[in-house]
Amino acid sequence: MDLIYLDHSATTPVDPKVLTTMEPFMTTQFGNASSIHTFGRQARNAIEVAREQVAALIGASRSSEIVFTSGATESNNQAIKGTIAHHQQKSVATPLHLVTCATEHHAVLHPCQYLEREGIEVTYLPVDRYGRISLEYLKEAIREKTVLVSIMYVNNEIGTIHPIKEICQLAKLEGVPVHTDAVQAAGKIPIDVDFLGVDLLSLSAHKFNGPKGIGALYIQRRQRLSSLLHGGEHERNRRAGTENVAAIVGMGKAAEIALQELDHKAQHLTNLVQRLRTGILTNLDNVVENSLPASQELVPGMLSLSFTDVGAEALILRLDMEGICVSSGSACASGSLEPSHVLAQLGISPQLAQSTIRFSVGSSNTEADIDTTTEKITKIVKQIRSLP
Ligand SMILES: Cc1ncc(COP(=O)(O)O)c(C=O)c1O
Repeated sequence: MDLIYLDHSATTPVDPKVLTTMEPFMTTQFGNASSIHTFGRQARNAIEVAREQVAALIGASRSSEIVFTSGATESNNQAIKGTIAHHQQKSVATPLHLVTCATEHHAVLHPCQYLEREGIEVTYLPVDRYGRISLEYLKEAIREKTVLVSIMYVNNEIGTIHPIKEICQLAKLEGVPVHTDAVQAAGKIPIDVDFLGVDLLSLSAHKFNGPKGIGALYIQRRQRLSSLLHGGEHERNRRAGTENVAAIVGMGKAAEIALQELDHKAQHLTNLVQRLRTGILTNLDNVVENSLPASQELVPGMLSLSFTDVGAEALILRLDMEGICVSSGSACASGSLEPSHVLAQLGISPQLAQSTIRFSVGSSNTEADIDTTTEKITKIVKQIRSLP
């Protein structure tokens, strides 16, 4: 049975061109980038090419502003905890304050909650029915002791795009830097850090057809952070540890391809989601849309729908038996019995949240995949709903 994979927000397959680019750095060119001999220089040069490629994907004018990490979880932790630690070193007087959003990924929320236990004050901005924050609330939330605003670029469960440029403009008026978790934006919408005015930005390669376990943090050159890891002088003293050369090279190549294919991919993903949405909503009643319907504020490729009276777990398993792979939301929370915190913040009841499916399409999906999915989901939902 040919499988149809519609869970690209969880992870994506490694592009064959990425794999080919990585291979020599695990075999013939295996050097440590800190060594000064030929092997070391080969590795160093390859890392610097990758740094340029990642910088280009996000419009950073200086590749030195890119620090490679183990993924976006580390990048987010580094951005948030590193900013706090830097300020704590300067003064310990009144408690420092952060502003974030209630629908962030756990890789932002949990570092914030950790810091709260350490005495840092955190404001979690509420969202509307489609996950949008209010700039008015943001303005009210920023105070004298605010040292960072961290708002994700694109939500990973419903696909809402936050107005990062406006957020940066507002925060800048108060002299507060902005971090954005751009994991679900990279490769799907254009990113230009200079245009946005963002100070810190997190990326993860496995969300745009690169390998897992590698990510990056963009650090605007005037931004000051304390490092989380202490050790060697790698990454200009910003991230200790021998560089994972093959993965870095893979991330660079994936970034290069993502940039080249951005416009075409965005159009393709938008068309497929539109087809899926129309098909499902035409065939089935009592389907609640959690993603903004056909909007500029919705990332290409994502659709979150709640199927009234249908348990998501049963639906996912039945679809899986038919060869269709979807998820109920964040992959990182899929083992949890708790309803999604994102859907709860939208005001969706726990029962409806447990009836929610996130479809996330990718470049290799076809219209035929979408039509098969629509047909099977229609059949399964009707069957489940007809059970006594
Ligand atoms: C919005 C967002 N942030 C952070 C992460 C964590 O990224 P990584 O897997 O690279 O640690 C994810 C992964 O699902 C994500 O979707």
